[in-house]
Parts: sequence; C-alpha cells; structure tokens
Amino acid sequence: MKARIIGTGSALPPKVVTNDDLAKIVDTNDAWIRERTGIQERRVSDAAVATSDLAALAAEKALKASGLKPEELELIIVCTCSPDMLFPSTACILQGSLKAVNAAAFDLSAACSGFNFGLTTAASFIESGKFKNILLVGADTLTKYLDWTDRSTCTLFGDGAGAVVLQATDREVGVLTSFMMAEGQLGPVLTMPGGGSRDPEEKNGRFIKMAGKEVFKFAVRVLETSIKKILESTGKTVEEIDLFIPHQANVRIIDHVSKKMGLPKEKVYVNLHKYGNTSAASVPIALDEALAEGRIKSGDLLILSGFGAGLTYGSNLVKWG
Ligand code: UT7
Repeated sequence: MKARIIGTGSALPPKVVTNDDLAKIVDTNDAWIRERTGIQERRVSDAAVATSDLAALAAEKALKASGLKPEELELIIVCTCSPDMLFPSTACILQGSLKAVNAAAFDLSAACSGFNFGLTTAASFIESGKFKNILLVGADTLTKYLDWTDRSTCTLFGDGAGAVVLQATDREVGVLTSFMMAEGQLGPVLTMPGGGSRDPEEKNGRFIKMAGKEVFKFAVRVLETSIKKILESTGKTVEEIDLFIPHQANVRIIDHVSKKMGLPKEKVYVNLHKYGNTSAASVPIALDEALAEGRIKSGDLLILSGFGAGLTYGSNLVKWG
C-alpha cells in the first residue's frame, strides 16, 4: 500500500502586513528584510482567530477537492506548535468542528518540520494497512507568539494553514520514501520557553527566541542531508526531480541548497515573499499553490522538505498521481 494525496487546500488570514508596516513599529526596513530573507509581506490573524479556525478552512477545501465526506476520515493529524490550547488537541477540536465522527485525532509537534513529519507518519499508517483515509493539516499562528519589539524575529513569521487528504492505493504513487531526524542538543537555538510545565506562569516570556545564524547553518546542512537520504534510498537522481517544495523560511537558505544540489530555479517552489515563515503550514500551502498554478502534473516526482525547532528536519519523496 502507498499513501496518495487526493486533495489539497490552504487558508490564510486576510490581513496583510508589509515590511513597510513593520518598519513603523520596529527598527527595520523593507530593503533589509527583502535582501536577507526574501519576505515582502505576511498574513496576520485577528485576535479571535485560533489555529484550529485556519486548519478548518484548509481542511474543508482539501476534503472538497478529495471528494471524501468528513465521516469517511479515519484519522486526523494536525501538525502545529501553536495549538489552540494545551488540551484538547487542535486535531480533536478540528475533528469536532468537521463532524468527522469516525476519525481518531492527535497533534504532532515538530514545529516547522511538522508537515513533513506528519506526512511520514500518515503514510506509515496507510502503508501498514491501519487506515485508508487520513486528513493531515499543517497549521500555525506564530504571530501570536512574536515579540513585536524584536526585529530579528517579528519580521520573519506569518500565519496560515495547509491540508492534504491521503488515501491508500495499490499503485506505486504517493509517498515513495521518507526521512526524518532530530538534533535535540541544538534545541536551545529556537525556543518558545513560556507556558509549558517548566514555566507555566510564562516567567521566561511567551515569545519566540531564536539564534538566527545558528538555525541558518543548521538548515543548509540538514536540507542537503535529508534530500540525499531520500534520493539514495530510492536510487533516484536530482535530475529526475520535477519540483522541490522546501520549508519557506528564508530564500537564501532555499537558493543555497538548490544550487548545491544542482536544482535549477524552475524546479524550486518559492512563495515566502507573500507569507513569510508560516511554520508547519508552509509546505502544504506551497503544495496547494503549486498545484493551482499547474506546476505539478501526474507522474511528477516531488521532494517536500522541512526543518525547524527541536531541532528537527525531514523530507518526503512523492510521486504525483
Ligand atoms: O523555520 C525555521 C526558523 N528559522 C529560520 O529558518 C531562520 C534562519 N535564519 C535566518 O533566516 C537568518 O539568520 C535571519 C534572517 C534570522 C538573520 O539574517 P542574518 O543575515 O543571519 O543576520 P544577522 O542575525 O547576522 O544580523 C546581521 C545584522 C545585525 O546587526 P549588526 O549586529 O551587524 O549591527 C542585526 O542586528 O542585521 C541586524 N538585523 C536587522 N536589521 C534590520 C537583524 N534583523 C534585522 C531586521 N532589520 N529585521
């Protein structure tokens, strides 16, 4: 059995915040943000909107595209590091709002690698024969956890959600192979320390703290490693790849890795100029947009890759069809 993607969807809050808007509240400027990250604007959700709200919008679109009814789902996985609350899980909240009455549901916490970890997890459930129809969502609202006086983080992130419906198939399509890994000893370079059991009163703050340069060095190293791992395990070559959809954090990371791997620009999908880093949502939003733009056709080989807090990283090789 293989896990095939039979529907995609995405959702972004309507409010656009440009680099110039940020330059009014923090000591930054459009030229710096564009040159150092590639980001031009990002979406920011209203105070009343929670991660599960964006997840539901993306999930409904993915379900519609798949032709499945909510009650046909057997499992819902929401990949997020900005859950609505500590419990119940955002996946259970989504299961309730979708009325997916026959589905189990749980959250997966791997930050910006979440969607890739989730895709590997969902595909494994399908390959084992445990489930046939799974809804996988990557959703985050990290703008709620930004220190708007810290220019080194508040300029980078945006909110969004992306979803896919996966179905069992006996054809050789869908998720062909996966790789995922963690380097927990590097965890302190990217944290949101407050609010967990170590600091329930948020004495250490409820804001994202990041040593950007360290994460940058990690990202370029591990993206290359994880791409090589999935190519090696299948005997595929870079030349056979039709589209690379990396986590959208910084265009310099994407350019560096693409160049090193010998992937030409036309085979690399980038949309971070519009949304910034949407964490677990970035890869499924990019996948949904690439499909809508006709960049993916049946039989294409895709590499989806992520990296992020943990630190974590992973890739999936997907044959579209
Ligand atoms: O999803 C995974 C999460 N994160 C990432 O993938 C992030 C990976 N890292 C990065 O993308 C980059 O390291 C950053 C975009 C975060 C930073 O870019 P950088 O080229 O590594 O800049 P830097 O941190 O070395 O800072 C260079 C200078 C510093 O000034 P001084 O010390 O040279 O005077 C910063 O204070 O740029 C300054 N700076 C800014 N200036 C204007 C940092 N942020 C800004 C800003 N506007 N927003």
